[in-house]
Amino acid sequence: MRRIGMLTSGGDCQCLNATMRGVAKSLYNMFDDVEIIGFEDGYKGLMYADYRIMKPEDFSGILTKGGTILGTSRQPFKMMRVPDENGLDKVESMKHTYKKLKLECLVVLGGNGSQKTANLLREEGLNIVSLPKTIDNDLWGTDMTFGFYSAVNIATQAIDCIHTTASSHGRIFIVEIMGHKVGWVTLYAGIAGGADIILLPEIPYDIQVISDAVQRRAKEGKRFSILAVAEGAISKEDASLSKKELKKKKESGMQYPSAAYEIGARLEELTGQEVRVTVPGHTQRGGEPCPYDRVLSTQLGAAAAELIRNQEYGYMVCVKNNEIDKIPLSEIAGKLKYVDPNSAIIRQAKAVGISFGDE
Ligand code: F6P
Repeated sequence: MRRIGMLTSGGDCQCLNATMRGVAKSLYNMFDDVEIIGFEDGYKGLMYADYRIMKPEDFSGILTKGGTILGTSRQPFKMMRVPDENGLDKVESMKHTYKKLKLECLVVLGGNGSQKTANLLREEGLNIVSLPKTIDNDLWGTDMTFGFYSAVNIATQAIDCIHTTASSHGRIFIVEIMGHKVGWVTLYAGIAGGADIILLPEIPYDIQVISDAVQRRAKEGKRFSILAVAEGAISKEDASLSKKELKKKKESGMQYPSAAYEIGARLEELTGQEVRVTVPGHTQRGGEPCPYDRVLSTQLGAAAAELIRNQEYGYMVCVKNNEIDKIPLSEIAGKLKYVDPNSAIIRQAKAVGISFGDE
């Protein structure tokens, strides 16, 4: 009997189930003697031996179902070597569960932090195959992560809805978009939704430049302006500070709930125009996966099963130049994929008149 462990880790996305289905259906078709063990709530299930033996039926009818049938949790990588409140050594405990269950390999669906832990477990001698999950698309070593386009769809719909109300009222509207430290979702949704101004963490903004862009639009007779703002957007001024200085500044100054609210308040002051902020938040991770993601999840899932069949461990399946490929975990762990401010897509967006608040 081949026993394969599986877990979903970190923030969820729309395609975790679709991807697990891809792995599981391929494995069941490949082998007569395979058993999949599903760990509950990510690495936590592996640490505390909280698992269930999955059946083929568990993976049926879940292609379009968002969330994760296994549950997930955030288990920060930096805490992995710190014992839990009862003194339990988390890494040793995960190894113990793996060995006790006589697993042939562990399949991990996760984003950045989860890939770091996957690599740590690989270094500790476990057989790992991982898959690139995150709406943020910030995983180094893959051109695309599953979840990204589904989130872009939702963020785009939010901007589309704002467009109709914006045209009635003639205000400045800000839509704050998820993405943690990177701007991929904001960039794509901003372009797709026809935002006038897009602010990304990778391109620090000057509030005066944004204000000028908005006022120029008003002079041209445009009744409204729409800003797509990444949750990690940062001003030029703040970007020049050290982490310590930035923390001090935030503690001493007025606190805003998030980047969009700060930008909104400053724009209201500078332009005298009314500003409204919309934060779609976790809706961007919810609902059904979009068709592109369903296909990608199926392909990546099948590719992961292929690695297991070939006993090629220590890899993350990935997308390279439109092909499904694999990359060693040791090469990707701990690296982020940022938007390149000098890339073609930024130049093309600027060419059609989108301001990035920088010049
Ligand atoms: O990594 C996915 C993500 O949705 C980020 O875009 C966001 O910054 C973060 O997770 C939110 O995390 P949580 O669900 O823990 O609030």
